[in-house]
Amino acid sequence: MWLPSVCVVLLSLLSASLAVSEPPEKPIDPECTVTSPFSENFFDLRKLRRDRTANPPQTDWFVKGQDYGANFSLNICGPVLADVTAEGVPKGAVAAYYEMNGTAYSIGSVSASPRFRGRKLVLAYENGSPCPGAPSYRKSTLMSLMCDHEQFQKPSVSFVGQMNDCAYFFEVRTAAACATVNQAQALGPGAVFGAIMGVFALVYLIGGIVYQRTVMHARGLRQIPHYHVWVAALGFIWVRVFAMPLLLSLRVLSWILGGCRTSQTLLDASSEATRWKRGEDDWA
Ligand SMILES: *[C@@H]1O[C@H](CO)[C@@H](O)[C@H](O)[C@H]1NC(C)=O
Ligand SMILES: *[C@@H]1O[C@H](CO)[C@@H](O)[C@H](O)[C@H]1NC(C)=O
Repeated sequence: MWLPSVCVVLLSLLSASLAVSEPPEKPIDPECTVTSPFSENFFDLRKLRRDRTANPPQTDWFVKGQDYGANFSLNICGPVLADVTAEGVPKGAVAAYYEMNGTAYSIGSVSASPRFRGRKLVLAYENGSPCPGAPSYRKSTLMSLMCDHEQFQKPSVSFVGQMNDCAYFFEVRTAAACATVNQAQALGPGAVFGAIMGVFALVYLIGGIVYQRTVMHARGLRQIPHYHVWVAALGFIWVRVFAMPLLLSLRVLSWILGGCRTSQTLLDASSEATRWKRGEDDWA
């Protein structure tokens, strides 16, 4: 018999379509961006990343060490562009370093995952060169990124301090740390059009009701502007677009179910169908 297998296929199709229509999970932020858990604002640091292939050529962000005795070079979300071999770390992973007495020290490896600590946007680099006197610990860097609309061409990075030549702190003032709209979640042109149309419909409805009520002295449902036109249009749509295809699909379904197992369902479906048909005549 082929009819039972048709039923199986139909049922599996139904379950598959149900599985597909489950709500999608929250989108994951692309590298070097983050969505604030508080404001749902989107922060995009990708503009701060120095790129070796860029034209004109770019260099690492330079940071004055002030009293530390060394200056720093760093990149945001990527490895430094300078060809540097730092002590105790593999080449290529260095995201920030300094040089002292002719030796380069990494103060952290690449991370492209900025995150929020409270309301602070921070980026951490870990696994740098071994800390002096404690080789099991490795140098690391913590950057606090602050919104500054004036710093839209390049960030202003300042060295805040360090602890035991092991932990380094920087403050980055940049326009890239100001909230932007996530392109992926922003309203598309269709949604904007829909919103405008919605406002028009609202103005039409409210304005029409006020007019019908105060000028025409209409009461009840007749206060709705162009009441008769809308009733006629709705009736037409109901019959042609909704009720007739529904009736047709019910008939097809009852034919298939009748093949699967002859039972009350077939009778139910057809009596349902006649009721729909009567309803249709009422509307027409
Ligand atoms: C850091 O850079 C400044 C120039 O911006 C320079 O005068 C100074 O000597 C440098 N310090 C070290 C330790 O290299
Ligand atoms: C660098 O060299 C100076 C003397 O030239 C010395 O005083 C200092 O301790 C050295 N620093 C490191 C980290 O070795």
